[in-house]
Amino acid sequence: MQTLAESHLVLGPEHVTIPPELVTIPTDNPNVILRQLIPDDAEVVFRTINSQKYDSAMMRFGDHVTREQSNVEATRDRIANAEGNEGNRRLILGIWDEGEFAGEVLLKPHKYNKGVDVIEYWVDKNHRGKGLAGLAAASASSYSLYERGSERVFAAINPKNKASERVVQRLGYFVLPPPQKDWYGVNKDTLVNSQRLQ
Ligand SMILES: CC(C)(COP(=O)(O)OP(=O)(O)OC[C@H]1O[C@@H](n2cnc3c(N)ncnc32)[C@H](O)[C@@H]1OP(=O)(O)O)[C@@H](O)C(=O)NCCC(=O)NCCS
Repeated sequence: MQTLAESHLVLGPEHVTIPPELVTIPTDNPNVILRQLIPDDAEVVFRTINSQKYDSAMMRFGDHVTREQSNVEATRDRIANAEGNEGNRRLILGIWDEGEFAGEVLLKPHKYNKGVDVIEYWVDKNHRGKGLAGLAAASASSYSLYERGSERVFAAINPKNKASERVVQRLGYFVLPPPQKDWYGVNKDTLVNSQRLQ
């Protein structure tokens, strides 16, 4: 039986009641976990996204995230309409660092390529530079390939986004051939060993 402190560490703020069927994925760091967002998370998620509005990395490479979240209700709707809602398979996972919300990693089916999940992520500016994106992308990629049943995971990376490029390269993602431009991909054979769930 977990203590309250332990469940807080694993799942996020104490005031949030977490339904048991939610997707939770461990990472290689026991203090960092991925946990599917629920509407009750909307306030902390919105507050964090709103605080990235003028962050240069977010403005250059993640402005669609801040643009879409104009108020807490928009964030609540985005979460409520994700995975689990009428067959929607857009899974939004919060990155929880010692129980604190620190960013998101998303998996969604590729529009045209069957068997492919697309991964996206962003990390709160105050939590960057300590490997969170790497941990999150590793665990989410592994979850997609080994649990969610995808054959490959693709990531669209702006070539100027060196931090993000580094994240996927370290995990064994490789540059996809034309006509895919600025896309990386990974499968079970290339995902680096330590990141596999099996
Ligand atoms: C990209 C982003 C997710 C990285 O988050 P993070 O938690 O700081 O990333 P990590 O610490 O896991 O790894 C970053 C890696 O890039 C490296 N890096 C950072 N800036 C770099 C740069 N300018 N050039 C080369 N490498 C760089 C780091 O050294 C680290 O590599 P290492 O693990 O080998 O030391 C974060 O900067 C972010 O949210 N940016 C805005 C949104 C975004 O770009 N999302 C991705 C869209 S594809």
